[in-house]
Amino acid sequence: SPGNPGSQVELGFEPVAVSTLNKVVVPAGYTATAFVPWGTPLTGGLPEFRTDGTNSGADQESQVGMHHDGMHFFPIDLKSGGSSSAEGLLVMNHEYINQDALHPAGATYVNDKRPDDEVRKEIAAHGVSVIHVKRDGNGAWSVVHGSNYNRRVTGGTEMDIRGPVRGFDKLVTKFSPDGTRTRGTLNNCSMGPTPWGTYMAAEENWHGYFANGDAEQPREQVRHGVGDASRYDWELAESGADEFVRFNISTLAASAAEDYRNEANTYGFMVEIDPFNPQSKPQKRTALGRFGHEGVIFAPAKQGKPVVCYSGDDSRFEYIYKFVSANNYDAATADGSLLDNGTLYVARFNDDGSGDWLPLSLDNAGFVAKMNAAVNAGSVGSIPFTAPFSSQADLLLNTRLAADIAGATPMDRPEWGAVDPNTGEVYFTLTNNSRREPDDTNAANPLGPNPTGHIIRWMEKGNNHAATEFEWDIFVFAGEAGTETVVDGNAVVTLDDTNLFNSPDGLWFDYKGKLWIQTDGSDAPPYQNNMMLAANPETRDIRRFFVGPVGCEVTGVVTTPDCKTMFVNIQHPEANWPDASSERPRDATVIVTKDDGGVIGS
Ligand code: FEO
Ligand code: CA
Ligand code: CA
Ligand code: CA
Repeated sequence: SPGNPGSQVELGFEPVAVSTLNKVVVPAGYTATAFVPWGTPLTGGLPEFRTDGTNSGADQESQVGMHHDGMHFFPIDLKSGGSSSAEGLLVMNHEYINQDALHPAGATYVNDKRPDDEVRKEIAAHGVSVIHVKRDGNGAWSVVHGSNYNRRVTGGTEMDIRGPVRGFDKLVTKFSPDGTRTRGTLNNCSMGPTPWGTYMAAEENWHGYFANGDAEQPREQVRHGVGDASRYDWELAESGADEFVRFNISTLAASAAEDYRNEANTYGFMVEIDPFNPQSKPQKRTALGRFGHEGVIFAPAKQGKPVVCYSGDDSRFEYIYKFVSANNYDAATADGSLLDNGTLYVARFNDDGSGDWLPLSLDNAGFVAKMNAAVNAGSVGSIPFTAPFSSQADLLLNTRLAADIAGATPMDRPEWGAVDPNTGEVYFTLTNNSRREPDDTNAANPLGPNPTGHIIRWMEKGNNHAATEFEWDIFVFAGEAGTETVVDGNAVVTLDDTNLFNSPDGLWFDYKGKLWIQTDGSDAPPYQNNMMLAANPETRDIRRFFVGPVGCEVTGVVTTPDCKTMFVNIQHPEANWPDASSERPRDATVIVTKDDGGVIGS
């Protein structure tokens, strides 16, 4: 990573108060400016954004998508060893959409069918944007229009399936009779930059895009809750074109000519995109498992050692996973193929503060014994389980079930992870869990219910990220003023008006080692609008740095390598933001700079 890891984690700004204003609030001495809102012209003929919602599907395919989320800044000279803070590729996810804002009068139906171009536009508003950005001599950032790097990846872009699930018979569709390809990535929440300069987009709540009205669903769907209707009814597009009907995965919809029963099995993965190669096909890396991936965070890569990354599954009572590559990292040759072969583990947080990584592998005798016991019992939890996984591909397709079998610790909705560049400790947000019962708590998830969430952290044994044991503690409990985080009988944090917060979600260590915490929670008093705080991981000094506009969540944060320009995403704002004159809300990035040109948060 660029920057100068060191003890530069002290917070130097005056915290801001909670806010109900329909604007971004930052500390005195800082400036916040909206940038690249939904609809910004990006590729092709650079179609101008129309404020009345009349841009076409084709226009949206050439414009920045909606509902900005995870984001990373790649210095333009990264591949030659540089660390430019003045020019780079800003890559971001577009998690989902607001149909009311996207179209002139919301989603429309004629005889229960949807106009094709509305569906096309909705699919195009999802996915990923690669945006070539540059700072001028006055410090103002702009899009480099006409750059070959500018790119849209959408819910319709062709992709390859890689890793153990590639070619598995449960991925065969009409589009890909050999089970090696699919179209699109959806519900891309958080992300992770790889050690070799590519971008991994997560597929989180992908199950909601598919409809399956069958009385019984296969286990690889039922464990995710695929419903009989889809979130946006794309399968009801009036033309019945293959690219739309593929979202109906019921057996009844399938005929010999139109068989998309397995389409949903091509979703739920981490998707690698090479922003420096605009012609490259995105690659779904199946060895990292199939679940509701919130994002992925890589441990710092070490020459001659395995590559290690962590990923949370954001649903109530789901798990935290770790992938350890079979092959070792070599800076000269490293690429995404390192992610195709390795071991996927799931975390068990023991009540004594220790933890274990449980391998999800048919090569592991302990796992196989538990799997066979589950077959004998006939179920895993409430899910029928009458046949063992037929292969590692089958296991990975059913990662959640495999983790259930292994005995992982059900968590309070694992969202983003972050690795401290100074200590190697791994942090994860556990955003909240309204459904945890008082008698169903454990030491790592001690609140039942847990309405406001907490942040957990651990150190791998010997500070070796490939280790199979760790030691964990709770970094902070979120909540109202007076909420204490107690260690050995002492309150190491007591929240007050300067740092009360709820539902931590986005989490990122900057290049100096400050921890940034973003929220996606209740905007009722005392919390008000969602926010971002900075934390000193050594002292647990936490201060509110940023408050978003009305109705939004604050998600996605990165800086330039010099830590002097910060990019923060605002997702699902309400009307009149960022344009005070527009009823049509526009998700946007916010650029934060310090007026004296200094390091953000210093
Ligand atoms: Fe898309 Fe778990 O937040
Ligand atoms: Ca999130
Ligand atoms: Ca969230
Ligand atoms: Ca969101």
